[in-house]
Formats: sequence, structure tokens, C-alpha cells
Amino acid sequence: MAFSGFALAVLLLLSMASRGRPCADQERSALLRFVAGLSRDGGLAMSWRSNGTAGCCSWEGIACDGGGVVVEVSLPGRGLQGPVSPALGDLAGLQRLNLSHNSLSGELPLEQLLSSSRGLVAVDVSFNRLEGELRELMPSSGTGGLPLQLQVLNISSNLFTGEFPSGTWKAMNSLVALNASNNSFHGWMPSSFCISSASFAVLDLSSNRFSGRIPAGLGNCSELKVLKAGHNNLSGAFPDELFNASSLEYISFPNNGLYGNLDGSRIGIANLRNLAHLDLGGNLLNGKIPDSIGELRRLEVLHLDHNNMSGELPSALSNCTNLITIDLRNNYFSGELAKVDFSTLINLKTLDLLFNNFIGTIPESIYSCSNLNALRLADNKLHGQLSPRIVNLKSLVFLSASFNNFTNITNALHVLKDCKELAVLIIGSNFKGEAMPEDETIDGFQNLQYLSLSRCTLSGKIPLWLSKLKNLEMLLLHNNHLTGPVPVWIKSLKLLFHVDMSENNLTGEIPKDLMEMPMLTTENTAVELDQRVFLLLVYRGTSFEYRVATAFPKMLNFGRNDLTGVIPKEIGQLKSLAILNFSSNRLSGEMPPQLHSLTNLQVLDLSNNHLTGAIPMELNNLHFLAAFNVSNNDLEGPIPAGVQFSTFTSSSFGGNPKLCGVVVGRPCGLAEAHHVSTLSREQTHRRIAFAIAFGAFFGVGVLYDQMVLSKYFG
Ligand SMILES: *[C@@H]1O[C@H](CO)[C@@H](O)[C@H](O)[C@H]1NC(C)=O
Ligand SMILES: *[C@@H]1O[C@H](CO)[C@@H](O)[C@H](O)[C@H]1NC(C)=O
Ligand SMILES: *[C@@H]1O[C@H](CO)[C@@H](O)[C@H](O)[C@H]1NC(C)=O
Ligand SMILES: *[C@@H]1O[C@H](CO)[C@@H](O)[C@H](O)[C@H]1NC(C)=O
Ligand SMILES: *[C@@H]1O[C@H](CO)[C@@H](O)[C@H](O)[C@H]1NC(C)=O
Ligand SMILES: *[C@@H]1O[C@H](CO)[C@@H](O)[C@H](O)[C@H]1NC(C)=O
Ligand SMILES: *[C@@H]1O[C@H](CO)[C@@H](O)[C@H](O)[C@H]1NC(C)=O
Ligand SMILES: *[C@@H]1O[C@H](CO)[C@@H](O)[C@H](O)[C@H]1NC(C)=O
Ligand SMILES: *[C@@H]1O[C@H](CO)[C@@H](O)[C@H](O)[C@H]1NC(C)=O
Ligand SMILES: *[C@@H]1O[C@H](CO)[C@@H](O)[C@H](O)[C@H]1NC(C)=O
Ligand SMILES: *[C@@H]1O[C@H](CO)[C@@H](O)[C@H](O)[C@H]1NC(C)=O
Ligand SMILES: *[C@@H]1O[C@H](CO)[C@@H](O)[C@H](O)[C@H]1NC(C)=O
Repeated sequence: MAFSGFALAVLLLLSMASRGRPCADQERSALLRFVAGLSRDGGLAMSWRSNGTAGCCSWEGIACDGGGVVVEVSLPGRGLQGPVSPALGDLAGLQRLNLSHNSLSGELPLEQLLSSSRGLVAVDVSFNRLEGELRELMPSSGTGGLPLQLQVLNISSNLFTGEFPSGTWKAMNSLVALNASNNSFHGWMPSSFCISSASFAVLDLSSNRFSGRIPAGLGNCSELKVLKAGHNNLSGAFPDELFNASSLEYISFPNNGLYGNLDGSRIGIANLRNLAHLDLGGNLLNGKIPDSIGELRRLEVLHLDHNNMSGELPSALSNCTNLITIDLRNNYFSGELAKVDFSTLINLKTLDLLFNNFIGTIPESIYSCSNLNALRLADNKLHGQLSPRIVNLKSLVFLSASFNNFTNITNALHVLKDCKELAVLIIGSNFKGEAMPEDETIDGFQNLQYLSLSRCTLSGKIPLWLSKLKNLEMLLLHNNHLTGPVPVWIKSLKLLFHVDMSENNLTGEIPKDLMEMPMLTTENTAVELDQRVFLLLVYRGTSFEYRVATAFPKMLNFGRNDLTGVIPKEIGQLKSLAILNFSSNRLSGEMPPQLHSLTNLQVLDLSNNHLTGAIPMELNNLHFLAAFNVSNNDLEGPIPAGVQFSTFTSSSFGGNPKLCGVVVGRPCGLAEAHHVSTLSREQTHRRIAFAIAFGAFFGVGVLYDQMVLSKYFG
């Protein structure tokens, strides 16, 4: 008995020695109180209990030092819910606490944690649902005047509110990184960080509601490397003092109300010789890009988009040879692009100059940027012909040059067809009044997915070479003067799902081939845009930004042409179509009832044609139909009543004197209400057949209720 007791004691001692000393009861109990306080622990309590005998140092997520003192609690993404218990403060030796990516709620007991765990170095509670204000840390509240060790505090992506307590940061004299992004803090941006902590290096206050100016005191932070406070309500000028913080590598203040200019200061931005990333987009900055920018030799990313900046680009920009991204869109920059020698920018991947006032031609030096993926020159005043040297841009995936004054579309297509990676080509609103090249030697464009040649007033026919673009998904040829028929080869483009050929002079009938387009006849409505090629947001119209798939619905738009004949009943095959527009043509005949098969239809516009007969009652089943227009035709009979149609107003039906219904203020007579007279022969046959079957089965007569039947025909 005594022997076995002794053996057990030895065994226990051995096992303890192999794991280091077990944690003290106090620490064990603190951890158990923490987990007991949770409303959901993701099985943590069980996991800890089942390893209970071994002492808490071997528990999941817990690490101890050699003396059995808990130094780390690391439970990120563990499915924890409920409050962060102040009991964790009883872990007197805790150095690292990581509870990020859980669903913890309530307040963060930072004060208790810091006052008892004085060695705490890193606290990461990001991505939780913690709320409330951060309370001011008082020296009296237990910190006892001892310096705090805290270096990293990540409270980002929570629901914190209130002002930032400035005294707290004064107390944190070891702080290196503070991340409070994506909360709801308001008030002034604090500046006291580097007064007490000389090594302060990372401040991220993005996506809050801070207002006022960027504090000049940050200029005293000699170790500051990362400064982010985008998406706030900051105003005022970019403080000159900040140019003193010459360690800065990353400055990001997009979407605030900063104003003033960058070239007025004595020291100037050139002092930030380590700067790699500068994002001041979406502010109210004016003035020029300072010449001194050329001294930022490490600059990789430059976002000055959506400001009021103007003037010519400084030629010194060509000295920033590490630039990868230049984004100057939506400003008032002007002058010749040729002022800059782009050939030195061999790392450049994105050059976005959308919506400016640049003049002249595309500088030849751009064609040396062999790493360029995305080039957008749209909405400027550039002219001239595209250079054959553009094929040197071997990585070019995205090219947008629309709304300029480029000429010779034949030449443009001939030089671009050999850009092997080109997937998005937007060159509309150029080449005014030229002829669409029909020549067969345009082959290439092997990766083209998106082609926009709209608003060019091009004459000629829809050319056959388009049929060779086997990867084409979206084709926009609207607002030209194209004549001839809708091509029958369109169905051979197996990936094509978005077609806009509106506002042309297309003639002939709607070919049945259109109703066999593979992407529109599939049941699968989902469209996935290739994010690798939509490198920049695509603008349609003047103000919309489209990048998501929903912005490019499955669409056939042949509105405002000269099409004649009837709408083929095969239209019912286009099961996944979302937008159908045949308005303002010269179509005749009836609206095919097969339209009711287009169950994903959101927009149906058949207005301004010569359509006759009734509006098929079955259209009531199109539950996604949000816009419907059949105005200015020669339709007759009752307007379908019911859920979907009750949402349309009289403007959907105007200009059809023989239509009746409450919405057009013309009550239907008895005969019309019965509506049978207006059914097409085919419809009538189907209905009678159904009614007979229905009647035979249920033993009711052939007298039937239109509303009930139309439901069954869905
Ligand atoms: C702790 O218990 C779990 C089971 O709940 C087990 O999978 C794990 O291996 C144990 N860990 C240690 C260190 O014993
Ligand atoms: C906390 O854990 C997450 C997930 O493992 C990790 O990404 C993060 O860097 C950690 N935080 C700190 C401060 O180490
Ligand atoms: C929180 O921020 C710190 C400091 O920037 C960083 O080390 C840590 O990885 C971040 N945590 C997560 C989950 O991103
Ligand atoms: C701050 O945290 C967020 C996650 O909430 C992260 O995306 C961001 O990179 C962090 N900032 C810094 C400077 O580390
Ligand atoms: C911001 O925080 C919320 C939770 O508060 C989170 O769901 C969201 O993903 C975060 N956004 C970013 C950009 O990190
Ligand atoms: C920067 O530090 C200097 C010297 O410590 C001090 O005089 C000055 O007031 C500080 N500037 C700001 C704006 O806090
Ligand atoms: C933004 O800041 C201005 C002052 O700079 C203030 O008048 C305004 O109320 C703030 N707006 C919000 C939404 O906080
Ligand atoms: C910081 O910048 C201010 C204003 O630009 C300047 O007057 C001051 O001398 C600079 N301070 C240091 C320490 O460089
Ligand atoms: C680029 O830098 C060189 C060397 O520092 C300098 O001589 C030249 O003037 C700079 N170029 C421009 C355009 O500023
Ligand atoms: C476009 O260029 C043509 C010919 O070069 C010129 O006649 C026309 O005025 C220019 N249009 C615009 C809007 O600059
Ligand atoms: C347009 O380009 C074609 C093909 O490169 C060329 O043959 C023709 O001369 C050019 N036309 C004009 C007017 O420059
Ligand atoms: C194209 O149609 C428009 C408007 O219907 C008409 O003004 C124009 O003359 C037509 N052009 C051609 C080439 O048929």
C-alpha cells in the first residue's frame, strides 16, 4: 500500500517534471471562471476538463513558462460567445492574449487586465462584438505607476463607441501597434502616442468616425511606420509636421474631408524617403503633385483619386521607379502625358487616369511598361491612333480608353488583336463616324471577355470577326449606326451572356438563333465575373461603378433599332435571361405567351412597337419582374391582375387604347374580363384541353375561373 503510494507519487512527480510545473490553482481557477462565463465555448470547457489532471499548462490554447505560469492565452476563431471575464486579470504572468475572430460581446475589461497582468505585451480581441467605450486608464487604478509593457493592442472590427481616451495612451509607454480600425469611435484623433512611447510604429484608426484634423503631434513619432485613418470624417490640411515622421512607410487617409495641397510646405513630402504607400484618395485636395515626389524612390502605390487636383504631371514622377500603382482618376489633371517618361516605371502594373483633362497622344514611353496589367485612359481629351507598340504590353489584361478622341478603329483593332492577355477592352466613344472594320484579318483577341465599342456612331454591319471571339462574355455595341441583320452566329459564342446592341439601325427579323444562346438557355442564372480580369471597376454610363456580377445581368438589349416581324415563340427558351429589351423597333404580332417561361426576368421592355393581341395572363408568374413596359403598341384586352402586375403603373401600358383595367382608368367590359376572345389559338387550345382534364378530374363543368387556371399554367 505504502509502496504503491510512493510509486504513484514518483510517477506524478515524473509527469510533472516532463511537462514543467503545473499551473497554480489560482490560474486554473481564473481560466475556468473565464470559460464558465461564456455563453458558448465551442467545446472548450470539455476539452480543458478532459485534460484536467495534467494541469492547465497543457490545455488547448494555453502556454506556460518553465515555472508553470500561464503566459499565453491564444484562442482565436474558437467559436467563443459571451463576455470577456475580468477573471483573466488573475493570470498575473499573462503576456499574450489572443481572442480574435470569436463572437465575444460586452465590454473589454482592459483596465482589470492591465492592472493585474502587468507583463501583458499583446492583446488581440479583433473581430468580435465587443462594445462600449474604452475607459480612461488611471494611474491610481492599480497600475501603481509601474510602466505598462503592452506593445500590441488590436481591438479592430468590434462595436466600440465613444471618444478615444487620450490619457490611456500616455500610460502605455511601450506601445508599438494600436489597431482600432472598423469600430465606431468618434471625436478627435489622439496624438499622445509617442509622447510616452518612443517606439510607437503602427496606428490604424480606419473606418471609424473620427473628426477634426490629423494631429500635428504625430510628426514627433520618429518610429511611426504605418498610419491609417481612412474612412473617417477628418478635415483640414495634411499637417506639415507629419513630414517630420521620416520613418513612415505607409500613409492611408482615403475618404475623409482633407483639403489643401501637397506642394505648399517647406519640408515637403520628399522628406518621407521611406514611403512606399500613399493613399489620399477621396478627399478635397487641390493643387499639383509636387515635383519633389520624384524623391520618393521607394514609392510603390500612389492613390490621389477623387480629389480636386490639377496641373500637369511632374516629370520627376519617372524617378519613382518602384511604382506599381498610379491612381489619379477623377481629378482635373491636364497637359500632355508625354511630360512623364514612363519607360523607367518598369514595375508599373496599374495606371488609372480616368476622368481628367489630359491632352495629346498616348506617350510612346508607356509601351515600355511591360508589367502593365491595367491601363485606363478613359474620359480625357486624348487623340491620335493607337501605336502598334502596344503589343509590347505583354501583361495587359484591362484597357479602357473610351470617351477620348482616338481615331482609326481599323488600326486600333489590328494592333490590339495581338495583345494576347487582353480580356477587357473598352474603347467606345471614339472613332466618331468611322466604319466598322469588316475585314477577316482581325483574328486574335483570344482572351477577350468584355468588348465595348459603343457610342462611336460606327457605320457598317455587325462584323463576322466578332464570331471568332470564343471567350466573349459581354458585347456592347450600342449607340452606333450599324445596319443589317442581327447575326445568326451569335449563338456560337458559348460564353456570351450580356449583349447591348441598342440604338443602331439593325433590320430584319429577330433570328431564332438568338433564342439558342447557350448562356441564356441554361437554367443556371449565376454569372461569375473573373476578378482577375476586372482589375479596375468598370463604369457604365457616367457615374456607376460596376464590378460585381449582378451589375452585368444576363441581358439582350436590341431596343431602338429597325427590327421587324414577330417575337419568336422560342423566346421561352431563354430561361436565365434577366433583361429583355426590344423596345422602339417595328415588331408586330402578339406577345408570345412563352414569355412566361423567362422566370428570371427582371426587366421586360417591348414598348414602342406594333404588337397586337392580349398581354398574356401568365406573365403574372414572373415573380422577379420589376420593370415592365409595353406602352405605345396596339395591345388589347384586360391588363393581367395580380401580385406582379399590381406593382406596375399606367406608364407601363399607356398608348394602347384598347387595353383595359383599373390601372389605365378604363374598366374592362364583361366580354373583355372573360378575355377568352383575346387568347391566341394556341393558348385557347391549351386552356380548353386543361379545362376538360381539370373538369373531368374534379367533376366540375367547363366553366372555369380564369384566375385559378392561370395559376395552374405557371
Ligand atoms: C486535450 O483533450 C482533447 C480532447 O478533449 C484531446 O484531443 C487533446 O489531445 C488533449 N490535449 C492534451 C495536451 O492532452
Ligand atoms: C491572433 O491570432 C490570429 C489568428 O491566428 C492571428 O492572425 C493574429 O496575428 C494573432 N494576433 C497577434 C497579436 O499575434
Ligand atoms: C491585429 O493587429 C496586430 C497589430 O497590427 C497584428 O499583429 C495582428 O495580426 C492583428 N490581428 C489580426 C487578427 O489581424
Ligand atoms: C488592423 O486590423 C484589420 C483587421 O480588423 C486588418 O485588416 C488591418 O490590416 C490591421 N491594420 C494593421 C496596420 O495591421
Ligand atoms: C468590420 O467589423 C465587422 C464586425 O464588427 C465585421 O463583420 C466586418 O467584416 C469588418 N470589416 C472589415 C473590412 O474588416
Ligand atoms: C513635438 O515634440 C517637441 C519636443 O518634444 C515638442 O516641443 C512639440 O510640442 C511636439 N509637437 C507636437 C505637435 O506635439
Ligand atoms: C464631420 O466633421 C465635421 C467637422 O469637421 C462636423 O461638423 C460633422 O458633424 C462631422 N460629421 C459626422 C457625421 O460626424
Ligand atoms: C517638424 O515640422 C515643423 C513644421 O514643418 C518644423 O517647424 C519643425 O522644425 C520640425 N521638427 C523637427 C524635430 O524636425
Ligand atoms: C531624377 O533623379 C536624378 C538623380 O537624382 C536627377 O538628376 C533628375 O533630375 C531626376 N529627374 C527628374 C525628372 O526629376
Ligand atoms: C477630335 O478630333 C478631330 C480630328 O482630329 C477634331 O476635328 C475634333 O474637333 C476633335 N474632337 C474633340 C471633341 O476634341
Ligand atoms: C488606319 O489604319 C489602317 C490599318 O493600320 C491603315 O492602313 C490606314 O492607313 C489608317 N488610316 C488613316 C486615315 O490613318
Ligand atoms: C439610323 O436610324 C436613325 C434613327 O432611326 C436615322 O436617323 C438614320 O438615318 C439611320 N441611319 C442609317 C445609316 O440608316
